[in-house]
Amino acid sequence: MNALHQDLVRIVGETDVLSETRDVAPFVADVRDRYNGSALCVVHPRSVDEVAAVVALCVEHSVPVQPQGGNTSLCGGSIPLADARGVILSLSRMRRIREIDAANNSITVEAGCVLADVQRAAVGAGRFYPVSLGAEGSCQIGGNIATNAGGTGVLRYGNTRENVLGLEVVLPNATVWNGLRGLRKDNTGFDLKHLFIGSEGLLGIVTAATLRLHPLNTHHIAAWLAPASIDAAVELLGLFQSSLGPKLTAFEIMNSAQLRMVLTHMPDRQSPLDPARPWHILVELGDSSDEPGLRASVENLLQAAISDGLLTDAAMASSEAQRAAMWNIRHSVTDAIKAAGRGIAHDIAVPISKIPEFLRRVSPALEQRFAGIQIVIVGHLGDGNLHYIPLFEFDAWDAFADPQAVVDEVHRMTYGVAMELGGTFSAEHGIGQYLLAEMREYKSEVELSLMRSIKHAFDPRGLFNPAKVIPQ
Ligand code: LAC
Ligand code: ZN
Repeated sequence: MNALHQDLVRIVGETDVLSETRDVAPFVADVRDRYNGSALCVVHPRSVDEVAAVVALCVEHSVPVQPQGGNTSLCGGSIPLADARGVILSLSRMRRIREIDAANNSITVEAGCVLADVQRAAVGAGRFYPVSLGAEGSCQIGGNIATNAGGTGVLRYGNTRENVLGLEVVLPNATVWNGLRGLRKDNTGFDLKHLFIGSEGLLGIVTAATLRLHPLNTHHIAAWLAPASIDAAVELLGLFQSSLGPKLTAFEIMNSAQLRMVLTHMPDRQSPLDPARPWHILVELGDSSDEPGLRASVENLLQAAISDGLLTDAAMASSEAQRAAMWNIRHSVTDAIKAAGRGIAHDIAVPISKIPEFLRRVSPALEQRFAGIQIVIVGHLGDGNLHYIPLFEFDAWDAFADPQAVVDEVHRMTYGVAMELGGTFSAEHGIGQYLLAEMREYKSEVELSLMRSIKHAFDPRGLFNPAKVIPQ
């Protein structure tokens, strides 16, 4: 460790190598306090060359490398295992915006840029970077790319993958791939950037990216809706898509249990509609010009939906403050759940048409099996992606003799149905260390073996983010 430590200091400087336990602690724990890892030290390189030099050194010493951005993974993806004796390579000091090319609708940023700062920089150039999620004030672009982050704008703008034009990556053999191209068209062999997007740091460390920008929406309409049922919610989504599709930017849903949890634990939030209604939708439309007809079209659609019995109530935001308050409720869900009890998180997706069937099959079965279980649901209905979170209050949770057995059974009951309906057990949060058993259970041997081959081609010694994503 001493020789390694001295060499690391030579590369990044004394103050950018942390090895005291108390300094390392925040880097080996996750936001939900579910994982506790260990590391020899944390290093903070400031340039791609420093990243490459750190990687070369780790390879020389056969030391695992744990890349880390904002450390907001919900799957333990950026936390080393408890027995790992590796180096955490934090990208947080690489936060320069290298270039904004407004005419090309692109921005080139370093991996440690916080998502919200990239959004702001785009607005400064009269453009829009559409990836948006609850952790946007602290998550970093490198982590967004490593996990192909989704969020609330996917319905209109796609996942992070659809918004990456080029990448700069440090490979496990310490060479640098400069693929920072800002092109929409480039059919010159394998499109390698797509291998790194969503690879969770197993194949390389993203140090910079050229991102796709969009026209800035200057006018928004947001509304809070209470659909009569989950079937009505799906039907309503179809109505919005067919009549106002290109302007629809979000179609988010939560159930009554989730909304009440936010109101209980964040008392300054106010529900736009009676929280006892079973389902709540936050719908938003955005446009780059003030089209007077848009508001009227939305009002007409909502009126018709009420007359047809699809909606029981609706409230349109009449100011930016009201719109922000609606999003504030939406973005408070993770903190509310953490305060309310022990949630067993699932990030499933099924074809949108199958959402009602998924719920009808899973929720009653869980309620029958576990007394006192609360079914908390929040998600991106427009993407068929639900955060389905059965929750036990802390007392009930502490009373379980074998809590892991409960988690395993709830997972099996939930994922089993999602998979039968043609869905997935991880829609937008990735695998990390949370879903290794599910990878083994639900991924075909063909897929797993291809993943192992690709991992081996890039990182034959298995030093990059070991023991994550691909089960051994
Ligand atoms: C959300 C995060 C948890 O949708 O993905 O709130
Ligand atoms: Zn989400």
